[in-house]
Amino acid sequence: MSDKYELLTEWLRDAHAMERATIDNIEKLIDQLKHFPEVAARYRQHLEESRLQLERLYVALGLMKAEPSSVKDTVTRIAGKIQPALAGAAEDEPVKQMLAAQAYEAFEAGSYIALIEAARMCGQTEIMELCSESLVEEEAMADFLKENILEVTRLYLSHEQKEQFFKTGT
Ligand SMILES: [Fe+2]
Repeated sequence: MSDKYELLTEWLRDAHAMERATIDNIEKLIDQLKHFPEVAARYRQHLEESRLQLERLYVALGLMKAEPSSVKDTVTRIAGKIQPALAGAAEDEPVKQMLAAQAYEAFEAGSYIALIEAARMCGQTEIMELCSESLVEEEAMADFLKENILEVTRLYLSHEQKEQFFKTGT
């Protein structure tokens, strides 16, 4: 097996771990976005998309005669938990969450761009197709978040009792 095949397999495992962390984070984010129903609804849709993306990566790994790495999955999920916990300590949590989430979606989209090219160079057409489907979803989510940073910032800044509004969960 040449290096590029091994690298493609490792990148698929990295992406599998990335999606596991994404699913954990989205489940938490939806809870924190109750004052932004449009963003929360879009996240519910993306949660379903992320579960599909995880499945596609599992299929892609199968095509490489490989499996996800439970070590990578666990480490990335733990690392993924740190970011919302840090953001949760700040009063301006909703705005910071949007910034972090938009950056993370862009990172996911970039990961699929790299995977598609690696798959192409390894002659893995089916993996290219699977990753292309996920790339479209990641780019759409990144665009949505970017467009909504403005709205979330406005709503947050215009509310008089920010702390109470966002922390009572009402
Ligand atoms: Fe994703």
